[in-house]
Amino acid sequence: MNTPANSAFLRDGASDAVIKAAAHALAKGHLVAFPTETVYGLGADGLNAIAARRIFKVKGRPADHPVILHVADIALAKSLASQWPDAADTLSKTFWPGPMTLILKRAAHVPDAVTGGQDTVGVRIPSHPVALRLLKAFAATGSGVIAAPSANRFGAVSPTRASDVMDDIGDRLLEGDMVMDGGACDVGVESTIVDVSTGAPRILRPGGISRAAIAKCLNKNPADLLAIGAADQGLDFSGEAASSDMDLGDARHDARHDAHLPRVSGSLESHYSPRAHVILANPDQMQAMAQRYMTEHPGQRLACVMRTANLSANGLSVIGMPMDAAAYARELYARLHDLDAQGFDALLIELPPAQDAWEAVRDRLKRAAA
Ligand code: TXA
Ligand code: MG
Repeated sequence: MNTPANSAFLRDGASDAVIKAAAHALAKGHLVAFPTETVYGLGADGLNAIAARRIFKVKGRPADHPVILHVADIALAKSLASQWPDAADTLSKTFWPGPMTLILKRAAHVPDAVTGGQDTVGVRIPSHPVALRLLKAFAATGSGVIAAPSANRFGAVSPTRASDVMDDIGDRLLEGDMVMDGGACDVGVESTIVDVSTGAPRILRPGGISRAAIAKCLNKNPADLLAIGAADQGLDFSGEAASSDMDLGDARHDARHDAHLPRVSGSLESHYSPRAHVILANPDQMQAMAQRYMTEHPGQRLACVMRTANLSANGLSVIGMPMDAAAYARELYARLHDLDAQGFDALLIELPPAQDAWEAVRDRLKRAAA
């Protein structure tokens, strides 16, 4: 998989010497890809505009897309914002370190390169031990602030293994850059992004922490947190804080017309896309859709990614996914990377149920299929 040229960047993230070297590399303006509990990030010193701009070059990402700043403690997070509302206080104390990003009004010293020129900044404290050790080491020798989007080319599937980082961007790294291997990511989908920069908190991207959990913490109805681009309007919250018969349509309509909502590249339609063509189907449509695809595309290779469906596997490549939402999320991106590497032309993926626990997975699947 990895060519000798790019594997020169790969290091064991658990080693003290590597943590130290990585913090040193960041301080010198190099890029360091590192594991977080969600996905691997492509890091640069978040207070060094020149270093941060290189992230965009390597990803091929438009310069006006903001990146998330990672820090090791709440005091440093606060220093990056000009306001720290009650919602930020409650959410950060409940979910950090962990897979949640807060959008806040920016402090003046946060570079435009990081915020995309907006008046807000995204901040999170990751919980992965390698990420936390790196952030602490970098706080001792540098700014302690690491700007990091997911470590993939713009629009592609996020990496949850160091080998996926190497395959995707290894050939774009330069001498002095580093990729830290911290094993497979535990959560497997990106952080939940909560905008607390206005009076009404909104979820801009579903992620590792469920909408119901955020709503419960803020003492709000989950429907009131829905923001632009939300894939699921009629989620089932039964057993959770909200009633299951709520109407999410209005919240979505309002969000679409809210000019104050920051741009989120995760809300672009075609994002998180594997090379293969992705088709989504409900469990009871899988067999018919698979047969139809094979008939209409003779000679093409189709993989059927199933959770509950039963296919009579007549010449079909069948991949089974976990029943449980957390386990499914953990595996999803690695499976997509592997299926791409195996050269499948199309993936027929069984859509998991419209329930709160599946919101992030359904969101990513829908974007992959867009
Ligand atoms: O789990 C994660 O969040 C991972 C790990 C590495 O922390 N990071 C990640 O970064 O997913 P990225 O850049 O691939 O996605 C971050 C999203 C983008 O869609 C970006 O537009 C949004 O966060 N974002 C960052 N700062 C923002 C801001 N000030 N306002 C609105 N959206 C912002
Ligand atoms: Mg990303």
